[in-house]
Amino acid sequence: MQDKPIALVTGANQGIGLQIAKDLAAHGFTVLVGSRDFERGQVAATEVGADARALQLDVTNPASIAAATERIRAELGRLDVLINNAAISNTNKRPGQSVEEYAKTTRPSNVSLDEMRAVWDTNVFGVLAVYQAMLPLLRQAPAARIVNVSSGVGSLTTNSDPAFPYRAIFGPVYPASKTALNALTLAMALELEPEGIKVNAVSPGFTKTNLNGYAGTETVEEGAREAVRVALLGADGPTGKFTRWENQTIPW
Ligand SMILES: NC(=O)c1ccc[n+]([C@@H]2O[C@H](COP(=O)([O-])OP(=O)(O)OC[C@H]3O[C@@H](n4cnc5c(N)ncnc54)[C@H](OP(=O)(O)O)[C@@H]3O)[C@@H](O)[C@H]2O)c1
Repeated sequence: MQDKPIALVTGANQGIGLQIAKDLAAHGFTVLVGSRDFERGQVAATEVGADARALQLDVTNPASIAAATERIRAELGRLDVLINNAAISNTNKRPGQSVEEYAKTTRPSNVSLDEMRAVWDTNVFGVLAVYQAMLPLLRQAPAARIVNVSSGVGSLTTNSDPAFPYRAIFGPVYPASKTALNALTLAMALELEPEGIKVNAVSPGFTKTNLNGYAGTETVEEGAREAVRVALLGADGPTGKFTRWENQTIPW
């Protein structure tokens, strides 16, 4: 088995995930570039560097997850870092529709259950499915780390504050999927604490990517850095935390 640490980044063919993959490669990792479209993963892997491998991985597809897991087991035998980055913000926002307008059509009273299920399928159940599949490989590593890429918009504490300016867009689809992901993060951290595997959630900040039609204010380099910092935590680092750059705690 190789000495060099091995990382898997889901949804690494573009955006923040691609940048996390590049940064981990620069830190000396063999990087598995997760992509639901294998060819786009191959293009991204070329950008990531010599020791990057495209890995077909659709986090909503059990057969894809099983095949990816088997490939890592057979080729590499373990996983040191898992970055659960893949996510979607919606499936049916109309082109040109603002986030505020979309939020009005996805309130608890009028949200389509199919829309909510589709987003949670990727952002919540997809993360749990990948976690369950990869755990035996993570347990083969000496000090595995899991980073769940969440969002500040999922913070119940922040959204409960009447002074928070963006609370009008808190709703059951994307924001609550990140709240649920935060809950999963804590449950995973508690489960793995006795084994020394650290599980943390991070928020990249409002980053210029496809997810928000490139409306974000941060660069992907800025968006990736907290996930990378947390992936590299030493034995004395925390587990079960939710932070943004640089190590600022976000209330759950
Ligand atoms: N951008 C922001 O402002 C912001 C803020 C807070 C949190 N985040 C979080 O940051 C993470 C990365 O988002 P991003 O902004 O970089 O968005 P992005 O550019 O849209 O990238 C999302 C990635 O997830 C992949 N993906 C979607 N569904 C998938 C599935 N079923 N299986 C595997 N991969 C899938 C996408 O693949 P395709 O290319 O095939 O679609 C893409 O590679 C997400 O967790 C997001 O919620 C982003």
